Amino acid sequence: MYERYAEVYDESGQIGFSLRMLEYLDRVLERFPAPGLSMLDLACGTGTVALAFAQRGWEVYGVDASESMLQRARAKAAQMGQFLSLSRQDMRDLVLPRPVALVTCLYDSLNYMLSRPDVTRVLQRVSRALLPDGLLVFDLNTRYALEQLWGNNCFFSEGKNLATVMDSSWDHARELSTVHAVGFVRQQDGLYERFDEEHVEAAFGDREVRAALSDAGLVVEAAFECFSFDPPLSDSSRLLWVARKAGNP
Ligand SMILES: C[S@@+](CC[C@H](N)C(=O)[O-])C[C@H]1O[C@@H](n2cnc3c(N)ncnc32)[C@H](O)[C@@H]1O
Repeated sequence: MYERYAEVYDESGQIGFSLRMLEYLDRVLERFPAPGLSMLDLACGTGTVALAFAQRGWEVYGVDASESMLQRARAKAAQMGQFLSLSRQDMRDLVLPRPVALVTCLYDSLNYMLSRPDVTRVLQRVSRALLPDGLLVFDLNTRYALEQLWGNNCFFSEGKNLATVMDSSWDHARELSTVHAVGFVRQQDGLYERFDEEHVEAAFGDREVRAALSDAGLVVEAAFECFSFDPPLSDSSRLLWVARKAGNP
């Protein structure tokens, strides 16, 4: 996952999500302040959010499982003359040299955890990586999105240098969405090179997320329809969760 795709991830339009999220995150952090200017972007991908925080003077860690995504993040940081502390890690085994005031995990990256124990394990690691009163902000695709919107559908998109076919299937029994993605990347000679990736995301309901956060010692401060401050609805496709680690007594 996210190996060949990494080369074209930003250009394919995915960067648009991070840009929209950055504007929203500013408003989220106004309502739910972090107790300092250090952060970890977990599953940081190509580093767009991490770099924006670094540019504002935050001390930033970025962690991702994909070396290719991290390479893109490194190249962008070098181009901008920014320092990011990037490391390749599976989020289930996350370790940081020192705790931070804010952890973000964005663009449904936590949906890539395919079982409730894995989500709990990641959140426990996140909790350890947070300072007292530290804030966690993450978004998740809802069951409605994976089952009803992605469902058993095939999506096609064509841009200047990339065409993709996303063939999605929903496994009702396991509550998993599998997307077989085929990309065709335009080469300098005008010919197209094909790559194939399989992305599997799991759906977690409200109670499961709350239980996993609680098991990790994190207290839910809010859940919103993502990109708004409205409460979630039965047909919300993406939720934004805000949780906090307890402070020192
Ligand atoms: C949809 S992308 C989001 C990237 C970035 N957060 C953004 O907003 O553009 C999902 C990211 O999760 C990462 N990822 C998936 N499973 C992971 C794991 N077990 N540990 C760490 N990163 C993981 C992928 O490599 C990928 O970069």
